[in-house]
Amino acid sequence: MVFGVYSIYKMGAVNMEKKWLYSLVCSSLLCVFLLATTFNLGLVSSLRSIDTIFSLFPTHMAMNQNATSGSDGLAPPIPRFAYLVSGSKGDLDKLWRTLHALYHPRNQYVLHLDLESPVEERLQLESRVRNDTLFSKVGNVRVITKANMVTYRGPTMVANTLHACAILLKESKEWDWFINLSASDYPLVTQDDLLSTFTNLKRDLNFIEHTSQLGWKADKRAMPLMVDPGLYMTKKSDIFWVTPKRELPSAFKLFTGSAWMILSRSFVEYCIWGWDNLPRIMLMYYTNFVSSPEGYFQTVICNTPEFNNTVLNHDMHYISWDTPPKQHPHTLTVNDTKNMIDSGAAFGRKFKGGSPVLDKIDKELLGRKKRGFTPGGWCSGKPKCSEVGNPDKLKPGPGAQRLQLLVDKLLDDVKQGQNQCI
Ligand SMILES: *[C@@H]1O[C@H](CO)[C@@H](O)[C@H](O)[C@H]1NC(C)=O
Ligand SMILES: *[C@@H]1O[C@H](CO)[C@@H](O)[C@H](O)[C@H]1NC(C)=O
Ligand SMILES: *[C@@H]1O[C@H](CO)[C@@H](O)[C@H](O)[C@H]1NC(C)=O
Ligand SMILES: *[C@@H]1O[C@H](CO)[C@@H](O)[C@H](O)[C@H]1NC(C)=O
Ligand SMILES: *[C@@H]1O[C@H](CO)[C@@H](O)[C@H](O)[C@H]1NC(C)=O
Repeated sequence: MVFGVYSIYKMGAVNMEKKWLYSLVCSSLLCVFLLATTFNLGLVSSLRSIDTIFSLFPTHMAMNQNATSGSDGLAPPIPRFAYLVSGSKGDLDKLWRTLHALYHPRNQYVLHLDLESPVEERLQLESRVRNDTLFSKVGNVRVITKANMVTYRGPTMVANTLHACAILLKESKEWDWFINLSASDYPLVTQDDLLSTFTNLKRDLNFIEHTSQLGWKADKRAMPLMVDPGLYMTKKSDIFWVTPKRELPSAFKLFTGSAWMILSRSFVEYCIWGWDNLPRIMLMYYTNFVSSPEGYFQTVICNTPEFNNTVLNHDMHYISWDTPPKQHPHTLTVNDTKNMIDSGAAFGRKFKGGSPVLDKIDKELLGRKKRGFTPGGWCSGKPKCSEVGNPDKLKPGPGAQRLQLLVDKLLDDVKQGQNQCI
């Protein structure tokens, strides 16, 4: 703009002067740029190495030796979670129930019903959220109204997850971890349990189940080339394969694992902002990869030295697979209750809508009444939890102990240098 204006008005008249000024401006810009990059790079890398050194120690060990009371002002702050809960056609009521079981005023929620669900269903979800007095008062539940086309097994799934991450980064500056759920997931602990357990964790830990032992997936997933029409067609159709196959990559190492995860805010920023090219390159690579949600984040994190020691090898879900695993896990029933509880996991999947096991979880693990919220320290008003009292008051129950055991075991693995990006 400035140069444009300058050349229109002064052209010819002060040609020499213009040339001189031009080179002056250019060189000063270059100087500023160089200075900025040096400073910036220096800052970023020293911050990162500090981060890396401490990343394995939970906060209470690293900085808070006297933290039993919390009254000394040194107690770590309570974290916040950012949830994506997504569903498809016919999932409205399931999603609504999962949201209520998961709700806590400290957290952020993004809800997504994909393009396959009818418009009425999506509008219904939106109006339910708008109509809910508590949601509108707290303002922490959002609905993605411009629904995405999501193809099962295709890269559109990862795109959808990254979309939600981006919305959450833009809309809320406060959350610490991102959690990706579907309408057929259900919590096995209360949010008070989860928040209080995570209070003591280093904020850059990521829960991503992963392995580099691709097994049958090397041949069946990594080599075939697939195209997802969901990327460019208005009507949904299944993915298709093209030939020839490709070789396994040599520029990076492939990892695979669970599509369910808990991601730190710093890792989400790394993936979304893309100041390093790796997350972007990986996204392009995984465009033609079947079931990319089971590999994208695993491969990115394990190929990034700044983050590879922040990963704990668990997805925080209880999922019951066949051995060897088939495409779909078992649908959980009341018969799985004991295993679910013993696992110590924060979430279970997958559940049928209205299944008796959900009522059992509500009653025995969450203390949740029909159509209500899972009670927690924040609840006040009549009926209970119709208003937000003190959102910072947590009342952890037995779920927090189960979760703590699992987390301690995972931290132990890492301390012994096991089970990380191998
Ligand atoms: C730890 O707490 C005790 C009792 O509150 C106090 O006397 C002591 O000075 C504290 N130590 C440190 C290192 O803050
Ligand atoms: C919104 O709330 C009103 C009154 O509470 C209720 O009558 C109406 O059915 C609700 N609408 C939806 C879409 O839930
Ligand atoms: C995120 O959630 C959806 C559930 O809708 C799941 O199918 C998907 O694979 C998940 N994971 C990732 C990495 O996108
Ligand atoms: C992380 O990356 C660095 C640099 O490539 C490597 O030396 C280290 O072994 C990796 N750590 C893990 C746990 O993979
Ligand atoms: C639970 O297990 C019992 C005994 O094995 C079986 O009869 C019943 O059908 C099972 N229930 C469900 C819901 O799978």
